[in-house]
Amino acid sequence: MVENFCSFFKDTLNLKVPKMSPLILRMTILVIATVCGVYMCSVCLKQINSQTNSTIEVIGRPDGCCEADNLESPYLHYPQPETFSRAECAENPVHFFVIISMQRSGSGWFETLLNSHMNISSNGEIFSYNDRRDNISSIIRTLDRVYNLDWFNSASKNECSAAVGLKWMLNQGLMDYPKEIVEYFNRRSVSAIFLFRRNLLRRLVSVLANSFDRHAKLLNGTHKSHVHSLEEAEALSNYKPLINSTSIISDLKEAEFTMAQALAYFNSTRHIILYYEDLIQNRSKLMDVQDFLRIPRMNLTSRQVKIHKGALREHIKNWEDVNKTLNGTVYEKYLHLDY
Ligand SMILES: *[C@@H]1O[C@H](CO)[C@@H](O)[C@H](O)[C@H]1NC(C)=O
Ligand SMILES: *[C@@H]1O[C@H](CO)[C@@H](O)[C@H](O)[C@H]1NC(C)=O
Ligand SMILES: *[C@@H]1O[C@H](CO)[C@@H](O)[C@H](O)[C@H]1NC(C)=O
Ligand SMILES: *[C@@H]1O[C@H](CO)[C@@H](O)[C@H](O)[C@H]1NC(C)=O
Ligand SMILES: *[C@@H]1O[C@H](CO)[C@@H](O)[C@H](O)[C@H]1NC(C)=O
Ligand SMILES: *[C@@H]1O[C@H](CO)[C@@H](O)[C@H](O)[C@H]1NC(C)=O
Ligand SMILES: *[C@@H]1O[C@H](CO)[C@@H](O)[C@H](O)[C@H]1NC(C)=O
Ligand SMILES: *[C@@H]1O[C@H](CO)[C@@H](O)[C@H](O)[C@H]1NC(C)=O
Ligand SMILES: *[C@@H]1O[C@H](CO)[C@@H](O)[C@H](O)[C@H]1NC(C)=O
Repeated sequence: MVENFCSFFKDTLNLKVPKMSPLILRMTILVIATVCGVYMCSVCLKQINSQTNSTIEVIGRPDGCCEADNLESPYLHYPQPETFSRAECAENPVHFFVIISMQRSGSGWFETLLNSHMNISSNGEIFSYNDRRDNISSIIRTLDRVYNLDWFNSASKNECSAAVGLKWMLNQGLMDYPKEIVEYFNRRSVSAIFLFRRNLLRRLVSVLANSFDRHAKLLNGTHKSHVHSLEEAEALSNYKPLINSTSIISDLKEAEFTMAQALAYFNSTRHIILYYEDLIQNRSKLMDVQDFLRIPRMNLTSRQVKIHKGALREHIKNWEDVNKTLNGTVYEKYLHLDY
């Protein structure tokens, strides 16, 4: 619709061109360009407003409005890596993204799904190493390398990456320099994918079990955070953690608060909010993600197998206790929700 509107004016313009003086012509073009721009932006804003009810929210920056129609979109990057040549894909634009998440919220699984796309390079938890987040300058140096495609690991697709990013946990320096990082994301047009888990009690079970396995190494003496077979999943889920019922309410509150704070800090960044539970139930959400990253749609796959399946009561040692503590509180829903 926007295109038709604009080409209509272009056509009219073409007809009149020979008869106008250069100054009038320039003024006319200026006026038409302004009208066209304002119209396109209002269409975009309407679309953004009409989306606010869906579980997935896409929020564009005001100046990022209509970038799909704008050749100089800030979200299209043409990096020039120092370590290799982008060869035949040098003309293909690259989108920058960051997955913002918390441990045991499905982000490992989500990242394997993304990396099964031939044009996505998601480089993992780069900031799990302290020396990369000692201070804001080491953070920025690290980000620059990732977005310049000069970061290498098994996920790198090198020359034909159309979207490049990393996974950043809230407790890995992200919340320590929010102002500087937001400024960086907006300056370099990085899109954020928030991936959270609705059921924070299930997340807590997973955190405790994973932390136990770090020492217990249940799988033949090796610690695994993610597994690829049902046998491994079963072996790991045999361990039932004991949950501290004295601190559980405040632990859940704190996790909720941290999530809300992250959203508030990074609100001005172009972003999408995803929930692990929705991704599991509805694979179309993955198409939304690919559209958000503006890459060609593909069916994404992962070999990972979920560890804690079925009723939560099977996975908590002191279930009665936890049930009683949460009964009648706002967190009661976590006792019943699946996944
Ligand atoms: C930041 O951290 C890096 C790596 O630890 C260090 O080499 C550098 O001197 C630090 N810079 C500042 C300004 O503190
Ligand atoms: C995706 O990768 C393929 C193969 O590497 C390449 O031919 C294609 O141009 C890439 N697509 C985009 C949108 O970059
Ligand atoms: C442990 O190793 C044996 C032999 O290599 C294998 O058959 C078995 O499945 C492994 N068990 C687990 C839980 O990974
Ligand atoms: C449970 O949490 C309370 C309050 O935070 C703490 O005082 C207590 O030591 C914890 N118990 C265990 C076994 O960790
Ligand atoms: C983000 O900003 C919008 C508009 O300013 C506001 O309506 C919304 O509540 C904010 N969200 C959060 C999580 O702060
Ligand atoms: C699945 O996700 C798609 C894309 O977000 C959405 O349009 C659709 O309504 C969802 N389906 C269900 C059953 O929630
Ligand atoms: C994804 O898979 C579905 C069903 O297996 C198929 O109908 C669809 O065409 C596939 N889409 C793409 C983009 O490959
Ligand atoms: C919690 O405990 C009550 C009372 O013992 C029981 O009726 C209920 O089924 C329990 N809830 C769950 C989810 O197991
Ligand atoms: C759960 O709370 C309800 C009231 O909210 C109460 O009647 C019931 O006895 C409680 N169940 C348990 C197991 O504490």
